[in-house]
Amino acid sequence: MIRIKSPSEIKKMKAAGKLAAEVLQYIQEYVIVGQNTGEIDRLCHEFIVNNGAIPAPLNYHGFPKSICTSVNNIVCHGIPDPEQVLQDGDIINVDVTVILDGYHGDTSKTYMIGDVKESTKLLVERTENAMMRGIQAIKPNSFLYEVGKSIEKYVNKFGYSIVRDYGGHGIGKDFHEDPHVYHFYTPANRIRLKPGMVFTVEPMIIEGDFEVITSQTDGWTVTTKDNSLTAQFEHTVLVTPKGYEILTKV
Ligand code: MF3
Ligand code: CO
Ligand code: CO
Repeated sequence: MIRIKSPSEIKKMKAAGKLAAEVLQYIQEYVIVGQNTGEIDRLCHEFIVNNGAIPAPLNYHGFPKSICTSVNNIVCHGIPDPEQVLQDGDIINVDVTVILDGYHGDTSKTYMIGDVKESTKLLVERTENAMMRGIQAIKPNSFLYEVGKSIEKYVNKFGYSIVRDYGGHGIGKDFHEDPHVYHFYTPANRIRLKPGMVFTVEPMIIEGDFEVITSQTDGWTVTTKDNSLTAQFEHTVLVTPKGYEILTKV
């Protein structure tokens, strides 16, 4: 069941979305060569709590940290670790979800560390473009599958793959609500968009093959099967009477 948010709920989701976006802005200057992902987690945790919110990932189905940090061939759900130090040429997705006044805001971006090679820059830029293409397909009475269709059409041009095992999601009082948002075309998303729906668009794009593996060791870390690079961007988006509004903006 897809929940339609009321005007008062939308107001709270805008505040949660803004705070989540502010976390990504705040952390930017610390996401540098020599930094460890444990410290990035600690700084984000502190910022979120100081702003009266709760980091949603912490203890979510047993997740041990407050944000996800996914480096290079890690697709998503990377666990911050003080022993994991960022190197020149790395890319890292920082995924932040806050709960403010009972409502979630979920956003992520991929940062480039130091001197990144040209093909990697292109992967990151095109992944952000892919997210925006998906978001721009959102309007009332359209089908949700237009989001995935737009992403797929754009990404296929470059020979990249789209992760199939993870997608976007409705969001509100709960972290993950209906609907599941596929980042490729599927009739499973033949759902009519209505004003007041709120969901994330968060494509994970791989330079190589689409297949992914979940760590048997920690039960969370998802990597590309062929160990190729992967990038992701995420926004929380509201369907409006005229189109859409990105809620995770500063
Ligand atoms: N923020 C992720 C998403 O975009 C979910 C992370 S769940 C966690 O849906 F438990 F790994 F934190
Ligand atoms: Co997220
Ligand atoms: Co999400």
